[in-house]
Amino acid sequence: MESTLGSKTVGPRQGRISATVSVPGDKSSSHRALIFSAFARGSSTVRGLGTGADVQSTRGVLAQLGVEFDGETVMSRGVADWLAPAQTLDCGNSGTTMRLMAGALSAAPFESTLVGDESLSGRPMERLVGPLEALGGRVTTTDGTAPLTVGGSAVERHPADVILPIASAQLRTAFCLAAIQGSASSSIASPAGFRDHTERWLAAMGRGERVGESVFRIAPGEISPTTYDVPGDPSSAAFLWAVAAVRPGSSVTTPDISLNPGRIGFLQVLEMMGARIDADVTGAIHGDPIGTVTVTGQPLRGVDLSGPVIAGALDELPLVAVVASFAEGITRVTDAAELRTKESDRVAATVAMIQDLGGGAQELADGFEIVGLGTLEGGEVKTHHDHRIAMAGAVAGVGSLSGAVIHDADVANVSWPAFYEVLESLWS
Ligand code: S3P
Repeated sequence: MESTLGSKTVGPRQGRISATVSVPGDKSSSHRALIFSAFARGSSTVRGLGTGADVQSTRGVLAQLGVEFDGETVMSRGVADWLAPAQTLDCGNSGTTMRLMAGALSAAPFESTLVGDESLSGRPMERLVGPLEALGGRVTTTDGTAPLTVGGSAVERHPADVILPIASAQLRTAFCLAAIQGSASSSIASPAGFRDHTERWLAAMGRGERVGESVFRIAPGEISPTTYDVPGDPSSAAFLWAVAAVRPGSSVTTPDISLNPGRIGFLQVLEMMGARIDADVTGAIHGDPIGTVTVTGQPLRGVDLSGPVIAGALDELPLVAVVASFAEGITRVTDAAELRTKESDRVAATVAMIQDLGGGAQELADGFEIVGLGTLEGGEVKTHHDHRIAMAGAVAGVGSLSGAVIHDADVANVSWPAFYEVLESLWS
């Protein structure tokens, strides 16, 4: 792989692979482990934290609230005694940092202002206001987006039962982090398919219970200091699984991966397309399953994707488009309008990527359609400053006939700084 002025040339790469790779800590679990540790009064341990810039954004915000970090140790005076921040809280590119911390701070007696980079400043934040204000919290957006002003002297915490219109784990978690600071129990409901790390961890800690498939009742009170062993990130492993999936006879094994039911949508999609998936649950961390996954490539066919599998594969849909290009037949993704609200408009960015690589793709209002030709020519990938587009483009590059040039390739640092080296290592 060559790098010039922010661009990276990737592939093409021939030959079968057979590799076992440990991927860095799960981004969603890492944010939660840091925030849960910061809620607790005392010293918690977080092992295997994700290595990307987004996780550092959460750490930086918590440090401004008086939380101290020393290696794997997180020391906090507890959420009730967090310090009022002296400056605005910079969430960088991380929507999870902004939404989760908005929830946590919406119930604080002091005011905080959350800001983000250009991409995050364009993402929808109005959706936080109703649920958090129902709990008596305070959230003010800037025309529906960041900067957000949260918490303050007008906060009057009270319980609420809220139903969300979308299956958003970020919104559900924001609500839980506010509701746990209340004095009586509250509940959150939404469509199914979301990653439920927060709910599982809270339930394991005696701070809530699931009522039916997607309703969670929060039991307010303190979180005790504990140890978090962050599992590998399935959304990172997905890029390596995809490399194997499009090469019949190749395989990639990833141990200690989060197998939360809201994170396995991409594996379900690969299986529907014809890949072989072996997933063994080997344990659980705070009630959240982990295990070993092996993906083995076999001839793939196009599929129709809609409904709950979409929420469980949302972050991986740009990669689904790449895999679908190497399959035979048409793949249609619908019910995925949320994809337009991510780090970029991922419907538009994904379709442009596939077209620029010589594939067949068209936008739908709530998804896209890919014409699988069994191969991609290769070409240039514009990332729109979106880490998952850059990494999906690189996977396309290694499988393509002439390779891909990824513009702005370093944006992968947001979730996985070592990604390109690990991708390359599959052939060593
Ligand atoms: C996340 C939830 C998902 C996902 C995002 C991380 C989380 O977003 O796309 O990358 O850690 O809670 P939504 O819950 O908004 O769909």
